[in-house]
Amino acid sequence: MSNAEHQQDAAPDDALAAWRRNQDQPWNRLRYLLVEINLHQIIGAGAAWRVLDVGAGDGRDALPLAQHGHTVLLLDRDAAMLAEAERCAAALNISDRIRTRQVDVCAGDLPLDPGGYDLVLCHNLLQYLPDPTPLLHAMGRLLRPGGWLSLLIPNPASETLRLALQQHDLVAACASLTATTHRNHFYGVEMHLRELPAWCDLLSDAGFEAIDYAGVRCVNDYINTDAIKFSEAGFPQLLALETALGRRSPYREIARLWQITARKAARSAWMAQAQRTGQIREADNSQA
Ligand SMILES: C[S@@+](CC[C@H](N)C(=O)[O-])C[C@H]1O[C@@H](n2cnc3c(N)ncnc32)[C@H](O)[C@@H]1O
Repeated sequence: MSNAEHQQDAAPDDALAAWRRNQDQPWNRLRYLLVEINLHQIIGAGAAWRVLDVGAGDGRDALPLAQHGHTVLLLDRDAAMLAEAERCAAALNISDRIRTRQVDVCAGDLPLDPGGYDLVLCHNLLQYLPDPTPLLHAMGRLLRPGGWLSLLIPNPASETLRLALQQHDLVAACASLTATTHRNHFYGVEMHLRELPAWCDLLSDAGFEAIDYAGVRCVNDYINTDAIKFSEAGFPQLLALETALGRRSPYREIARLWQITARKAARSAWMAQAQRTGQIREADNSQA
């Protein structure tokens, strides 16, 4: 009845191994597959996209995109994670479509081409930042006008439901109703919880239009029987159910995670500002 992310602290020297083990658990296999399915709905078939993965970890979201012919730049501050991504890319024979760069993405503007990307992923990172606004703006500058942003963030309501339905801890469930942070025991750090409208406001302020959101793991985390979650034979059915629920209300409202997709406005607030201040010329818009 467990999801390891709620249970164990990773020893620092074994962090990558613990991360990999956690990724391979059924609930995380589900998470990565559901996110990939949603991304393919945005990308569709056609030309190769230029993808930037911000806080990419070991590239579990990015590598499948490279396998489909897209080029991906992975940003992370953790060298071990990036090395693992490169190792996996080599094993998959897609090293030519993957690049990595070790960088602190919160240390100011990212040293990359403005407007140089069709799709930016930022999965499971923004909730750890007390103020995600600067990074949202930075990602907006790197997207071409009309480019896509995919965020993966936790749903505050799911923690209350999980505590009540899976942990049977009604006191903690009550207390969680007013919590604005939640401790992630896998990383040993606080997550900042926001409702969907708050994320949409932050996106709008950064020059994005929120287009849609999908629930990622709408029911999995409330299933109280490990036999169902760990069943290899049952996994395709669980994936099929979660895929069907992810775009439907009211199921997506209780999902463990939300994948929000947003588009950078064709002529966003930052671009208008940059043109006013002479940072970029009008003609520069067309190249993206
Ligand atoms: C929860 S992991 C998510 C990894 C990946 N996006 C995924 O969902 O599998 C967060 C990642 O963000 C990276 N990270 C956290 N803060 C960062 C920062 N300020 N600059 C760059 N990377 C950062 C961590 O090293 C870690 O790999």
